[in-house]
Amino acid sequence: MPFDSATALTWYRRNRARSRALFDMLTDDAYYSQPIALRHPIVFYEGHLPGFSFNTLVKKALGRPSIDARLESLFARGIDPHESDGAGGSGGSGESGGSGTNARLARDVWPSRDEVHRFADEADRQVIDALERADLDRPGDPLLDGAEAVFTILEHEAMHQETLLYMWHRLPLSQKRTPHGYRPRVEGGSPPGEWIHVPAGCATLGVARGAISFGWDNEFPALSAQVPAFAIERHDVTNDRFREFVDAGGYRDPAWWRPEDWAWIERERIAHPLFWERDGDLWLWRGMFARIPLPGAWPVYVSQAEAAAYARWRGARLPTEAEFQRAAYGSPDGERAHPWGAALPDSSRGVFDFASWDPEPCGTHPMGASAWGTEDLVGNGWEWTATPFAPFPGFQAMASYPEYSADFFDGEHVVMKGASPATARELLRPTFRNWFRARYPYVYATFRCAR
Ligand SMILES: [Fe+2]
Repeated sequence: MPFDSATALTWYRRNRARSRALFDMLTDDAYYSQPIALRHPIVFYEGHLPGFSFNTLVKKALGRPSIDARLESLFARGIDPHESDGAGGSGGSGESGGSGTNARLARDVWPSRDEVHRFADEADRQVIDALERADLDRPGDPLLDGAEAVFTILEHEAMHQETLLYMWHRLPLSQKRTPHGYRPRVEGGSPPGEWIHVPAGCATLGVARGAISFGWDNEFPALSAQVPAFAIERHDVTNDRFREFVDAGGYRDPAWWRPEDWAWIERERIAHPLFWERDGDLWLWRGMFARIPLPGAWPVYVSQAEAAAYARWRGARLPTEAEFQRAAYGSPDGERAHPWGAALPDSSRGVFDFASWDPEPCGTHPMGASAWGTEDLVGNGWEWTATPFAPFPGFQAMASYPEYSADFFDGEHVVMKGASPATARELLRPTFRNWFRARYPYVYATFRCAR
């Protein structure tokens, strides 16, 4: 698909409107708070989103001057902190965008909200002017070949919206305004557990440069993987199923945990998934806007460490990235654009693109099933894999955001695939890869077992 500036402008405006709506969900007193200890305070992100777009497209790609060098530097990308003893593990993909450095600064080093808005408005004005008037698709230009910098800023903001939501998830409920009429969908029981056999075959990881209009650097080039036959669960592991592990003492038995994960469980005194809370004899789910009785049929949201321990307890394991790819996109007659085929993603196929503020029951989107019958591989929660995040042979860092992936090829991060309720539809492509540390419990990530 050739670059079209009118489409890019519409997308940019839709992104900005959605980001504004997300910030407007919060009460004023949340603005300088820091719901996840190793992430920036909320104020950072309201400046970072337009700041990154301005810096990448207007300053770096077009060579235009600064708006305010101090604010641009303050709102620049943070660093991925190492796991700290105090905070239950750190994350994430380049776009989890966190840093302990700024977070430690006192509240009064951050600008007033009016000042953030003035900077953001000017950054937006200049980005929109560039999208309306500048030549942004320049073959041979390091940042604008294939309009790379434009797609970079558009997908960057979409990814951050998911980051914002899982941060908002941890805020006190009193600091969030429930959207009018919103009710989590909790009906029905867990679907029965069912294994699906996927025959041996080839899975394509990544894609050839130039074959899609845009991908992040870690999606290139294409790599063919031969995947032996395997079995994978039709559905994600639900809260009901995961509760069997909790009730069986799974969090008290080192036999199921990798040594480094067990050390984390003991150190942090973790006894259940972060999204669960206990009220007397009752398990509750901490939803975005309310605590509700644990919805048994929802996919459980856990860290990769907890997912791997559960799988071991069941005598199974997590799927590899190549197995996910084969289960989701493979078919007896070649690979597909989406698990369900070529049709564009919509709400009949799965829970993504901000369709819900919480997950929905497993088994409610059979129209999203893959050729083999696996459901919800895209949507309702990212899927943990067993595969460390690493470059495909021939990887080259991208000019518009060289540190995006390269900073995370450290053996400490694992690949997540698919999508969550808070993943924008533009990111639903077979090659899109997400990654986090194994002991990062905050993201909307679930899993299913393979064997
Ligand atoms: Fe960012």
